[in-house]
Amino acid sequence: MEKLTGLKKIKTAVFISGAGSNLKNIIKFSKIKKSPISINLIISNTHLAKGLRFADQFKIQKKLFNFKNFKNTERNILLLLKKKKIKFICLAGFMRILSKEFIKKFDGKIINIHPSLLPKYKGLNTHIRAIRNNDKFAGCTAHYVSAKLDSGKIILQKKIKITTKDNPTSLAKKILKLEHKLYPTAIMKIFN
Ligand code: GAR
Repeated sequence: MEKLTGLKKIKTAVFISGAGSNLKNIIKFSKIKKSPISINLIISNTHLAKGLRFADQFKIQKKLFNFKNFKNTERNILLLLKKKKIKFICLAGFMRILSKEFIKKFDGKIINIHPSLLPKYKGLNTHIRAIRNNDKFAGCTAHYVSAKLDSGKIILQKKIKITTKDNPTSLAKKILKLEHKLYPTAIMKIFN
C-alpha cells in the first residue's frame, strides 16, 4: 500500500450499521499516541445503528446515508470523504456492499473486520455455520476490502476454540471480544 504515514495521524472514516462496539474500540485506540489514525467521520446506512451515539460521545462528525439511490449515495459519500480529507476507511459492522467503483477510488485503503476465519464463511451467519459444521475453531479476520465480498487480502486473524457449550450467541460474544483486540493490531500492522 502507498505509504500514508507521516507525522500527522491519517484521517479515517468508520462505516457502521449496528451496535458499534468495534467503532468505540477503534476510537479509543485512535486516541493513544502510537495510533497512526484519527477518527474524523462516522458514516452509517441506518439511523437505527446504535453505534451512532459514539459520534456524540466522542464529538466526531456523523453522517447518515440511506443508500436508496446507490450510485448517488456513493457519489455523495466520496464528496464528503474528499471534503474531510479522509484517506483511510475502516468498515466496522457495515452491512452494505460497496461498489467496485467506490472501492477503486480508495484502492487498498479500505479495511474490514469479519467474524470468521476467512476464507471460511464469507457473508452472514458465520457463527451458526461454524457450529453446524462442527468446526473446532472459530475466529475473526481483518482484511482489505476488494470488489469481491470478504475476499480481499488478509491482514490478520485470531482464532479461538469452539467448545461443546457454545451456541451462536456465546460464540458471537467471544469473537467480538477477539475483534476488539485484532482490529487495532491490524491497523498498526498496516502502517508499520
Ligand atoms: C462484528 O462482529 C463484525 O465482525 C460483524 O458485525 C459485528 C458488528 O459489531 N461484521 C460483519 O458481519 C461484516 N460482514 P459492532 O457493531 O458491535 O462492531
